[in-house]
Amino acid sequence: MLVDSYNRKHDYLRISLTDKCNLRCLYCMPLDLPESFLANRSMMSVDEIESIAKVFVDLGVSKIRLTGGEPLVRKEVREIISRLSKLPVQLALTTNAVLVDDFIDLFVEVGLRSVNVSLDSLDSATFKILSQREHFNKVIANIQLLLDRGFHVKLNMVVLKDVNHPEIPAFIEMTKNAHLHVRFIEFMPFTGNGWDHQQVFSSEEILSLVKDHFDFEKLNDRPNDTARNFRVNDYVGTFAIISTMTDPFCDTCNRLRLTSDGKMKNCLFSKGEADILSALRSGEDIVPIIQQCVWQKKAARGGQMTGDISTLSTDEIENRSMISIGG
Ligand code: GTP
Ligand code: 5AD
Ligand code: SF4
Repeated sequence: MLVDSYNRKHDYLRISLTDKCNLRCLYCMPLDLPESFLANRSMMSVDEIESIAKVFVDLGVSKIRLTGGEPLVRKEVREIISRLSKLPVQLALTTNAVLVDDFIDLFVEVGLRSVNVSLDSLDSATFKILSQREHFNKVIANIQLLLDRGFHVKLNMVVLKDVNHPEIPAFIEMTKNAHLHVRFIEFMPFTGNGWDHQQVFSSEEILSLVKDHFDFEKLNDRPNDTARNFRVNDYVGTFAIISTMTDPFCDTCNRLRLTSDGKMKNCLFSKGEADILSALRSGEDIVPIIQQCVWQKKAARGGQMTGDISTLSTDEIENRSMISIGG
């Protein structure tokens, strides 16, 4: 079992398969950095992903989530999904859903039943402004396809004040008749994403807006949930809030991350990384490197953002861009 110095047990690994994406979401891509994606040789190969994942599973990981960039644009994603599905883990995926129709039969075949979809607007014009691409209709159709085929679907909406926050009630309305779980995520700062605290629509503001429109109840959260869950009375689906900025949930964190170039991050906001891939390639035992990386995990938010968020600037944060972490 991978235990850190705060006695948190880590059994959930997020593996980023690529730093490439078929959308250009403004809050995720670095604004001022040139688009330079990783060279193929610095990426983990399919064999390397499988070998590293097996080591994590032997160390107690029971859930693996595949992320990106957009995981489904990775050329060998079929092979990766097939191989990882044979491990004794719950396999899940976070995607923008643009390519889901090409892969849905594979998901069914290998038993991947849980898909989280990023969707920030129900309006095609706002979708285009936020993602810089025209894929709105495809994404909406693919979300419906996932629901029709009985997948467990969570929608992730990054809430930006005055951009998409007025759409929160419309997102909740989608949970009236569908087994859909909508999650409102506070906007987080990453290298180059132009974060400003005034763009954060806080958990408190979300709840206050929801109260104006619906009667709802708090649901019980699972032990390692990042989300606080709610349900509007008599609705089939649920909604939730991920409040990393104003109400972090780090004391129950069970997550570890592997970037597509094989670096391990012990926290979404960790400054440091452990170079697992280089160690594997030079024939070293990666177990002690993983254990040490877990042990060095900070109490909360990678030891960063410790002060008042209203005075925080992204220049103070040492991290990668979101697109190269994978969320
Ligand atoms: P479940 O496994 O369904 O709980 O999904 P998830 O929330 O772990 O994953 P997803 O990829 O859908 O991420 C949704 C949002 O939660 C994203 O904005 C992530 O950046 C954020 N998130 C995921 N893991 C962490 C984490 O460890 N810490 C923090 N602070 N945020 C996280
Ligand atoms: N703040 C909060 N969530 C973000 N995501 C990407 N960038 C950010 C950010 N700056 C979300 C995506 C995706 C998930 C993996 O992370 O919308 O659903
Ligand atoms: Fe875990 Fe870091 Fe996220 Fe906190 S910010 S929940 S410690 S990954």
